Amino acid sequence: MAAVRLFVSLLICLCAYYFYSEETVSADMVRGKRVLVTGSSTGIGEQVAYEFSRLGAHVILTARRKQQLKQVAKKCLALGASSAGHVVADMSNLTAAQKIVEDVRDRLGGLDYLVLNHVGGSGQFGPFKGDMAAVTSSMTINFLSYVQLTASALTMLRESQGSIVVVSSLSGRIGGPFTLAYNAAKFALEGFYSSLRRELRLQQTNVSVTIAVLGYINTDNAVKKVGDKIRMAANPKEECAQKIVQAGVLRQPEVFYPYWSLKPLLLFKEWMPGLIETLLDKSYILENIL
Ligand SMILES: NC(=O)c1ccc[n+]([C@@H]2O[C@H](COP(=O)([O-])OP(=O)(O)OC[C@H]3O[C@@H](n4cnc5c(N)ncnc54)[C@H](OP(=O)(O)O)[C@@H]3O)[C@@H](O)[C@H]2O)c1
Ligand SMILES: *[C@@H]1O[C@H](CO)[C@@H](O)[C@H](O)[C@H]1NC(C)=O
Ligand SMILES: *[C@@H]1O[C@H](CO)[C@@H](O)[C@H](O)[C@H]1NC(C)=O
Repeated sequence: MAAVRLFVSLLICLCAYYFYSEETVSADMVRGKRVLVTGSSTGIGEQVAYEFSRLGAHVILTARRKQQLKQVAKKCLALGASSAGHVVADMSNLTAAQKIVEDVRDRLGGLDYLVLNHVGGSGQFGPFKGDMAAVTSSMTINFLSYVQLTASALTMLRESQGSIVVVSSLSGRIGGPFTLAYNAAKFALEGFYSSLRRELRLQQTNVSVTIAVLGYINTDNAVKKVGDKIRMAANPKEECAQKIVQAGVLRQPEVFYPYWSLKPLLLFKEWMPGLIETLLDKSYILENIL
């Protein structure tokens, strides 16, 4: 009985917090700001670039595919970006990651938002069979290159009192099966960036760090990879991007999307980890995986 009462009060607090903490972002907060979005040739990164463009930012896109980047840049301009450029680079090469930031400095003279979003190299969805190459490439592309970009951009971000936005996942908060190399990189990101946030605060450096914790989103690649392997509805990438940009601009430490699927899970996982894992385990379509 006491547990139920505690549960209900917690849920009420959560609702109140969610509905009263909704601030809005206006174009005058973002117009003319300089934004680098990684992994912006498609998916969530593409939508984040569009969202910043609607608010009038200068955007620089980066990924490996030049043609796609050009198309996205064109659409950014049509949506209202102050300017839109792109840099072709492969994040498995840390020197290339460093060079992206140099290009941004040369072109825009500084940086206000570093949006770290790209993902790749973590191999097939399925049980871990000792594939070290997948772990190494996932850690390089999905973790080390993020750190490299941050290290290279930090001077510019200090100057502009800018923001770092890191795209993470529920898989960076609750370990789950079949994507171990990916999950490891997301847990590493959570550790690095939550620590960096505190370190910057203690140094009184006004650079915000926003971690976006995402559930299942309907990007083409995600649906192709796991669509027939998990029983879950994918959430719209457009709304996802809006929430990410809003949290970044408002300098919030964290954002959860979709909030109501993730936040209760994360709140109750400390309290009843067995139940939460059992619930999540039911979402796998094992006959299509094992
Ligand atoms: N979709 C979901 O369900 C979901 C759930 C939780 C978290 N997330 C997170 O959200 C973020 C975006 O996911 P998404 O679904 O939008 O991914 P996506 O559609 O697969 O897009 C990935 C982006 O990264 C780029 N990329 C891949 N490998 C690269 C490499 N080696 N070097 C440089 N760029 C590379 C891709 O472009 P090129 O191929 O042109 O290089 C593309 O622009 C990721 O951090 C992901 O972990 C997604
Ligand atoms: C890594 O990127 C740098 C800078 O763009 C480039 O000079 C170098 O050739 C790349 N290395 C590999 C192995 O592709
Ligand atoms: C930190 O930077 C933001 C954005 O530039 C600014 O609005 C805010 O006033 C700054 N805070 C401090 C304490 O300087």
